[in-house]
Amino acid sequence: MEALTLSWILAMAALCVFLALVWRLRLPPSMNLPPGRMGWPLVGETLEYLATRPIGVPQPFIAKRVARYGSIFKTHLFGCPTIVTTDPDFNRFVLANEGKLFQSSYPAGVDRVLGKFSMVQASGELHKRMRALTVSFMQAQSLKDNFLQTIQARVISLLSTWEGRVVKIQDEAQSLSFDCIVGHVLGMDPGAENTKTIKEDFFNLVYGLTIPLRIPGTRYWTAMKGRQNIVRLVEQMVAERTTKPCTARKDFLQQLLQDDNGKNLTLEQISDFIVFMLFAAHDTTATAMTMAIKYLLANPQALNQLQEEHLEIRRNKRSPDEPLEWNDYLQMTFTQHVINETLRLTNVLTSAHRIALQDVQTEEGYVIPKGWKVVSSWTTIHLNPKLYAEPLEFNPWRWKTQSVKYFTPFSGGPRFCTGSELARLEIALLLHFIITKYSLHPAEDDEAVYFGTVKMRKGLPVTVTKLSQIL
Ligand code: HEM
Repeated sequence: MEALTLSWILAMAALCVFLALVWRLRLPPSMNLPPGRMGWPLVGETLEYLATRPIGVPQPFIAKRVARYGSIFKTHLFGCPTIVTTDPDFNRFVLANEGKLFQSSYPAGVDRVLGKFSMVQASGELHKRMRALTVSFMQAQSLKDNFLQTIQARVISLLSTWEGRVVKIQDEAQSLSFDCIVGHVLGMDPGAENTKTIKEDFFNLVYGLTIPLRIPGTRYWTAMKGRQNIVRLVEQMVAERTTKPCTARKDFLQQLLQDDNGKNLTLEQISDFIVFMLFAAHDTTATAMTMAIKYLLANPQALNQLQEEHLEIRRNKRSPDEPLEWNDYLQMTFTQHVINETLRLTNVLTSAHRIALQDVQTEEGYVIPKGWKVVSSWTTIHLNPKLYAEPLEFNPWRWKTQSVKYFTPFSGGPRFCTGSELARLEIALLLHFIITKYSLHPAEDDEAVYFGTVKMRKGLPVTVTKLSQIL
């Protein structure tokens, strides 16, 4: 028995040594690769990279390696040899060379959930066409003519349920953000029965983005089911709209069906495009809304100045309930500083994921081999004391003079987020109606953490009091 155990241990040890050797041989021998470690066979350093961490401080995985190796290092993440860059200029170079030296490439599993025609996967002509469609849908004129009023209506309706309650800001923001985007993209009303169904399917999809195991009962399985249901709904809507055309609709699906270029998109491409739009807009915007409120609650001076900006806009209105106009939105300068500062500290999306299309040499003479992944980390740059004075402080006033050269919460180059202005508008309108109607107080201590996405551990519960009872 003992002999059997010993030979089993020896066999396993030999296998580990063999795997480690094969692992080492994967490195191109003659190239001047950046320093760093490839970690364990197969998993590399992925588990440490993904470890839960607090928000608003440098990511420990990266900070540790930057201290040891410098601003560019090699590692192995999500099954691929990877270069992580925290060098502000090289990051800009990576983003600017999208489609030339680098191409968008996210971890396996994302494509299965978002679909093979999602915008993150699309490249070349298809990406250009999809991008043009989103740019035209979210242009300033549409924000002004369509979105401003519909978002206001949704915010007011949501807040009408808050008075005298303890609400979890994170849940409310997620609900609002979803209601807004599903309205913009599919023309669906928040209260409608099919909106509730698609919301449930979509939340299963988003929050089931875990280890891609297709085993019944797992969160990933439920996520994939949610995706199938959404795709089925989009297909039904396309069929209905094709048989009963109605050009008065102003949502994104209608634009895809009417647009000359869009006509060439297949049904599968349209469905994946819609799933991607919901995905791109929903959790990102909800997180920024939640974190803005979290930072404001902890910074009374910023909260007071923001409230003054919004009360002043209200004082210039003919009646207390008069809707906001585009010019009112343009007055919200300090609000935009608050949004910038929230995005800088939060890093809703922490990095861009790319793949090198050819060998690329860095200024230091390192080579990024063709086919290697490149992770351009934004967190490290947004918290870099050489670029931002007192980088861990919430200081919206810095944006009066702060350079935006290395500020990339919405990425940069040909993949720059086409929904950035829509997101800013939604956050600003939510802040306006909260701050002019209510006073919020934290109901419990809470903490923001990063585990795949940014989340408040308890959802940021707050007690809501009507402002007229205080002022
Ligand atoms: C605070 C909220 C948001 C943040 C932080 C954010 C961030 C980003 C980032 C970082 C990228 C680029 C990823 C890369 O370079 O690989 C991106 C792409 C994109 N985002 Fe946003 N986003 C937000 C809200 C929105 C909204 C509301 C929409 C509306 C649908 C939207 C639509 C898109 C689209 C269509 C792309 C793909 C652009 C392309 O590939 O050409 N985003 N977003």
